[in-house]
Order: sequence, then structure tokens, then C-alpha cells
Amino acid sequence: MKEFNDLADLNGEQVKELLALANRLQTNPEPRALEGKVLALLFMSPSLRTLASFQAAMVRLGGGSFVISPDMSIHGIETRPGIVMDGVAAEHIREAVPVIASYADAIGIRAFAERRNLDHDLDDREFNNMREYCQVPLINMESAINHPCQSLADWKTMDDLSVPGNGGKFVLSWAYHPRVLPLAVPSATVHMAAMRGMDVTVLRPEGFELPASIMDKARQAAQLSGGSVNETNNRDEALEDAQIIYAKSWASTQHYGNRVADEEQRRDLNDWCVDESWFAATQDNCRFMHCLPVRRGVVVSDQVLDGPRSVVIQEAQNRMYAQMAVLHQILAST
Ligand code: CP
Repeated sequence: MKEFNDLADLNGEQVKELLALANRLQTNPEPRALEGKVLALLFMSPSLRTLASFQAAMVRLGGGSFVISPDMSIHGIETRPGIVMDGVAAEHIREAVPVIASYADAIGIRAFAERRNLDHDLDDREFNNMREYCQVPLINMESAINHPCQSLADWKTMDDLSVPGNGGKFVLSWAYHPRVLPLAVPSATVHMAAMRGMDVTVLRPEGFELPASIMDKARQAAQLSGGSVNETNNRDEALEDAQIIYAKSWASTQHYGNRVADEEQRRDLNDWCVDESWFAATQDNCRFMHCLPVRRGVVVSDQVLDGPRSVVIQEAQNRMYAQMAVLHQILAST
């Protein structure tokens, strides 16, 4: 594997191979597999899980890593192409990325969406620009429109829980949040569940429809896997017989880039907080998933998050095993 940017770059069998490797490394550690290898981690946006799990993954495989982020004592990094750099930033990403990469055998990059222009974010332009400056294998640690490491871990979590692929009912639900959040996780999640062969329903209020390109990509994956992808604003219909409720907030796609209009649109939507009543018509063992971080009492009730339905800690732990598999495939043979 030369890079890990999108689960869609792999076929179903390749994903299953990666997951088998993740399971193998979980039960049979290989503490010398990446001896002498270095992973560079460039965080242009904040993180807890991704930062910690990649560092832990490298240590468990016998390698090392270093972290660079704008919060550290570094020169400010400019990302805009063609800019005259007469402001605060003293370093451009065009030099910073190849320099950081030159110290490492692979590089992970995180750069969230700007959330100003939908087409710009859907094209993942900023991330794709950075890809061009990398001379070593690249791992997407969350870009404007993708979060493949989260999706691989979520797939593994459902496998661990014996949630069926074909015939499994997966609901990706929009949830209330006071801030305008990116489309990366919903986009990656709807595709992952479709690729896993599940019957996927995107449940969201009016104005928060996922863009056609995201839905089309997921539907193409479903066609290959035997799954299906639908979208509705009818909560009762969506939740009936669900096996997974995956909650996530995202920006209004009707008012993308217009913070005031978005906030106005979500003002009366604070009942989109997953509580026990959401599970009234689901299957008895329906699980609650979320990528974290999550706002308690806003996105999900304490009762659900602290109760037996919640698998958020398993998802977070599986980030490490999933990424160990990715790192092993990229670096063990180089
Ligand atoms: N889920 C996830 O990527 O968490 P962090 O933002 O903390 O890395």
C-alpha cells in the first residue's frame, strides 16, 4: 500500500485483509515489525485520539514518531497557494511538508475543512495540494471530506460486535451541535457502512442533506457490496429495526459557508439529541456509535453514552489497532 487516503481506494477484500491484520496485531503483537521506522505526524487541526493512537501504534510496532502542529513553537504555516507572505506566517506548507517528510518513512496529515465553500471542501483541495508535496507514503488523518482511519476502526468495531454486514441496518443520524462541523466523518461513515454491505439510512433535518457526490459514492459502494443507501427526515421510519445509530453533527449544506444562516437553521433542532427514546423501535441490541469527541447532553444523553448500548470507547481503541495494520502494510516491507 502506497498511501491511505480513502477506503474507496481499496476493494472489499483489501479492507477485510487490513482488518484481519489489525486483529492479528491485536492478539499477536509484533513489537519489532517497524524497528527503525519513523512516522511524521502533521496536525494542522486539533486531535486527541488520532494523535495518541498513531503514536501508540508506532511504539507498539517498534518504530518512532514525531508531531508537528501550529500550536507548537514553530513558525506560522501558510497553506494558501500563490499568497504573498507578508502576514504572520513565516513558512509555507510547500516547504514544510517535504521537509517534515524528509525526516520520516511515512507522513500522516490532518487538515480540517475550511467550511466556506462546499465545492472546495468536497474536492478536498487543500489536502490534495499537500499530497503533491509528499515524497513518502501519506496517511489521511482527517481531511475536509474524509476520515478513513476512523472508518476502518468503526468497521472493525462492528465486526468485533458481530453486527452483520449484509442485512445489517445502519442509521447515520445528524445531531444537534452549537458549532458548524465538517462533512468528513459523515462522508466517510456513510461510504464505509455501504461498502460493508449494510442497509444505510441517513437521517437528517431539512437543509442538512448530504451532498449528491457523497450519496452517489456511497450508493456505488452499496451496489458492489449488496447494501443500500437512503436518506430521510422521518425519525420513526429511519430508526425502525436499526442495529446501529451513529450520531454526528455536520454543517447545513443548504447554507454552507454562511454561519449566520446555518445557526438560524439549527436553532430549533436541539431535540436532535440521541436519548433512550430513540431506541424504542430499534432492535433490542442496537448500539450507539460516535467518533468522539462528543458533547454530553447535546449530541447524546448521559444515559445512552454511559449505558450498555454505547461502543464509543471500543471505537476509539480500535483506532490504534486499525492504524497499526495500515502502518504495517505501508512500512513493514519497505
Ligand atoms: N475521532 C477522532 O478523530 O478524534 P480526534 O479528533 O480526537 O483525533
